[in-house]
Amino acid sequence: MQKMKVLGSSRLFGEVQASGAKNAVLPILAATLLTSEAVVLHNVPQLTDVLLMQKLLISLGVTVKQTGSHSLFIQAKSLNTTSILSDDAQLMRGSVLTLGPLTARFGLAKLVLPGGCSIGARPIDQHIKALNALGANVEIDENHVQAKANRLLGTHIKTDMVTVTGTANIIMAAVLAEGLTVIENAACEPEIVDLVNLLKLMGANIRGEGTSCIEIIGVNALHGTEYTVMADRIEAGSFLCAAVATQGDVLVSGIQPTILANVTRKLHKMGCSIDFGNDWVRAKIQKRPLAVNIITEPHPGFPTDMQSQFMVLNAIAEGASCITETIFENRFMHVPELVKMGAQISVNGQNAHIQGVPNLYGAEVKATDLRASAALIIAALAAKGDSIINNIAYLDRGYESMETKLNQLGAKILRI
Ligand code: EPU
Repeated sequence: MQKMKVLGSSRLFGEVQASGAKNAVLPILAATLLTSEAVVLHNVPQLTDVLLMQKLLISLGVTVKQTGSHSLFIQAKSLNTTSILSDDAQLMRGSVLTLGPLTARFGLAKLVLPGGCSIGARPIDQHIKALNALGANVEIDENHVQAKANRLLGTHIKTDMVTVTGTANIIMAAVLAEGLTVIENAACEPEIVDLVNLLKLMGANIRGEGTSCIEIIGVNALHGTEYTVMADRIEAGSFLCAAVATQGDVLVSGIQPTILANVTRKLHKMGCSIDFGNDWVRAKIQKRPLAVNIITEPHPGFPTDMQSQFMVLNAIAEGASCITETIFENRFMHVPELVKMGAQISVNGQNAHIQGVPNLYGAEVKATDLRASAALIIAALAAKGDSIINNIAYLDRGYESMETKLNQLGAKILRI
């Protein structure tokens, strides 16, 4: 596996462009299965998860053409199969996003179950419950989930917890169902709004996106369109954290500040100066940040995908703090790695107690998941001395050219 060497005591300055959002483009790619017409997508980030999703679509018989560095032409005119049984599907949880669209348009879908993953068990019971409620017959064996249906029928669905891909799957199933579907306890994430924006351009009838109650009136067919994927708020937030950790000054362009408010509010509380315009956000600080308590929550609460990056800030902050992770049961795997770098953190169940220290120190550490890999890079940039980060392939699943972008801001990162 690839590693990264990160030189410490860096300070980051300058401007960096946000890429397209991983968690928006994955459901959007799945949504292209809902029409026989062409969908042209722009601002598609170059990520291994995106390549994997394209591979899954191609395996179904979908035409996928790269028409520019960040643009794709996709047409699911007719499929060879509605089964996704390859190992690739198991590698990426996003593969479950094909379940709703395949069942809605073709009345048949069979998927290899996405396994548990390092940050938690991540079951798909809510996806299945909703498809059953929409009239599909869903069967599960040890390794597969299979859904069969005639036309799905609109219904009232209340999910037991807020689930992002669950909400995306239900929406994509309901857009072609007969009649009205109401989703209560729906995810309000901006990536859901982005998916709905695309679906509306394809002819879907949806309202309430961005709130916890979404209403969908099914239509007989959707048509093709052209769409630009939203910017990645987690990538942007990670750059802002890198600026704060290194007492720098970084402007992230191409991102709406409102979708980052839950992150910039915390940075402001940490003593960071935040400026923003229509499509940019800038974070600047010239001292150690102040410790802040954080509880991860569904949007508009503080995002779990920013938890590890903020743990680094708290680790070098003035004061003590507590970070409570409420979304995933195993998302503190970065803690022992940060401790190797001199952080003072102890974990008790879903709480991590952090005593800020003036400096972290370079060390050899390993990335344990996608966001942890970004957090370790941020920690290594701020640390005294150089670090080696192992298992860095995680990073490429969700950050496009992360080290190139950071090096443009003054970091010294080498992939080995
Ligand atoms: N859950 C269930 N049953 C379900 C669905 C979810 O118990 O049927 C539980 C999960 O186990 C978890 C909680 O509900 O404890 C929330 O999970 P959710 O379904 O919202 O997560 P997800 O949709 O699988 C997406 C992002 C994650 C992000 C979470 C939370 C994508 C492709 N993934 O996952 O992104 O952390 O929402 O915001 O959109 C990342 O980018 O690093 C990442 C992990």
